[in-house]
Amino acid sequence: MCGIVGYIGNSDVVEILVNGLNTLKYRGYDSAGVALFDENKIKVYKAVGKLENLKDKLSTVKSEIKNPFMGIGHIRWATHGKANEVNAHPHTSTTSDIVIVHNGIIENFKELREELIKKGCVFKSETDTEVVAHLISEEYKNTKNLKEAVKNALPQLKGAYALCIMSINEPDNIVCVRKNAPLIIGVGENENIIASDIPAIISLTSNIIYLNDDEIAVVKKDSVSIENLDGTIIPCKIVKMFVETDAISKMGYKHYMLKEIHEQPNIVRNLLNGRIIDVNSSVELPEIKISKDTLKNLSKVQIIACGTSLHAGQIGKYLIEDFAGVSVEVEPASEYIYRKNTTDENSLVIAISQSGETADTITAVKQAKGKGAYIVVITNRPDSNITRYADSVLNVNAGIEVSVAATKSYTAQLLTLYLFAIYLAEIKGENLDKLSDLKRELLSIPTKMEEILTTEGDIEKKSEQLSKYKNFVYIGRGVNLPTAMEGALKLKEISYINANAYPAGELKHGPIALLDENMPVVSVLIPGHISYDKTISNCEEAKARNAKLITVTSSNDEKLSKLFDVIIKIPEVSDILSPLLSVIPFQLLAYHISNFLGKDVDQPRNLAKSVTVE
Ligand code: G6P
Repeated sequence: MCGIVGYIGNSDVVEILVNGLNTLKYRGYDSAGVALFDENKIKVYKAVGKLENLKDKLSTVKSEIKNPFMGIGHIRWATHGKANEVNAHPHTSTTSDIVIVHNGIIENFKELREELIKKGCVFKSETDTEVVAHLISEEYKNTKNLKEAVKNALPQLKGAYALCIMSINEPDNIVCVRKNAPLIIGVGENENIIASDIPAIISLTSNIIYLNDDEIAVVKKDSVSIENLDGTIIPCKIVKMFVETDAISKMGYKHYMLKEIHEQPNIVRNLLNGRIIDVNSSVELPEIKISKDTLKNLSKVQIIACGTSLHAGQIGKYLIEDFAGVSVEVEPASEYIYRKNTTDENSLVIAISQSGETADTITAVKQAKGKGAYIVVITNRPDSNITRYADSVLNVNAGIEVSVAATKSYTAQLLTLYLFAIYLAEIKGENLDKLSDLKRELLSIPTKMEEILTTEGDIEKKSEQLSKYKNFVYIGRGVNLPTAMEGALKLKEISYINANAYPAGELKHGPIALLDENMPVVSVLIPGHISYDKTISNCEEAKARNAKLITVTSSNDEKLSKLFDVIIKIPEVSDILSPLLSVIPFQLLAYHISNFLGKDVDQPRNLAKSVTVE
């Protein structure tokens, strides 16, 4: 949610800032801006809409920009105030002596704004951010030093922030700081770069400093110095990172989403590698640092997450209850945090978050930790904020996911939940007879995923036919209900078509009133479980109301072709493992419908990949 880049050095500042923002588009994309320190002036350029609009603007003012030596840039996902040019970052103080970019939310901005107005500050925007520029400017009057001014301003702020700040009086440094929002510094040769996330810096350097909360960094061309609020000097710990250049390239695919869908078989294969060494031996999860005795005696498990990660968690409930026999509650993090829950020191709380930055999930984890619960975090970003509160971190290792709609991180989360559920069952000595077969079948999943991907052309044709509908109902039962929910979510997110998911058995209790020839019903049908026949009956009920029927199924039953208008086949798979496969056709359907309708697949309107506000 909002991306930040800062650069100081002799390279082309505009190019570095714009290229950096380009890699952070997944964090927001409703407006963008840069501030350049050029000819002893701070020049600010902003544009509403996509980053391309800012690029166009910068090219029209090229002659105004001489030789900037440093600059800061921002890409926005609006929280306070509309997405317009005035509200776009960077924001300046009244006299424009201070300029800042900000990611996060200043919760007490209204009070601060009133106080600052009384002091004579003139506000231009509706944002929470602008108060920070004025506040630092006021503090600068006393300190005459940017770092000290920032240090004095910070204790007055409530909320979350990653900030890059420049002062007109300090032409050779950018000051940056973070609290509950990510910020890293890339250390180069005679140049340094600051950013919200790794993709923005990898073309420049692989040396990174991870800034911690309330650490203030003064970044010059050839040095970085860090101290905390009380002035203690913090040694700069430079970490060499593994450069995932493939992750930020489309590798020939039209969209990141399609590339990421196709990466799933290998991600799952790599995750299985070293975890299931022999189907007759226990699953290896050395990252779980919670003692086996504790895990054996858990009273309950709670899973908290948001969005797609929540759907993975809902499947996790089936797995943990089925394999390990422990009762599991699953809840959206945003609900968990505002009710009196029963988490205690015998609870295991599993928080799932692709980004590890989702504010709702982080708040929930902090609360659960405060109640003494054991915390396992399942994330794609093991260096993220949420991992600070974890007793154990399970890295799903899906690689950087660029497309806003989650795909590969979802199947990687699912696989991690399968492994964890089996691990727990083995510790508890539950269902040992069936776990070897399950592990054997898990090993076959990557190849079956590849088989589904070979049918993409067929799914694309079907998507074209289906793209004329304005509404869809998705249904599923048991372990495939969350799959139906995820399928509906994918369609909504990237094509803006109304798609709602229901437990198949609930269709007749209300939603059936919606059905007619304009409302297709999409189902998941996996033989081998009682829910198969029951779901077919629900589809019959929908057919009787003239609904067009679409199914994703592993069944070879020829009778299905009489009932269903569109059948998307997946390889044979047991019901309990089917979510790893049945979601892929749904991802492809959503992708091709969105692409066919000409929507912006990778950056759907109103969404951001990391939602760092509650
Ligand atoms: C946002 C994204 C969703 C994502 C959700 C949870 O809403 O648009 O795609 O599923 O956040 O994100 P997380 O990073 O916590 O998994």
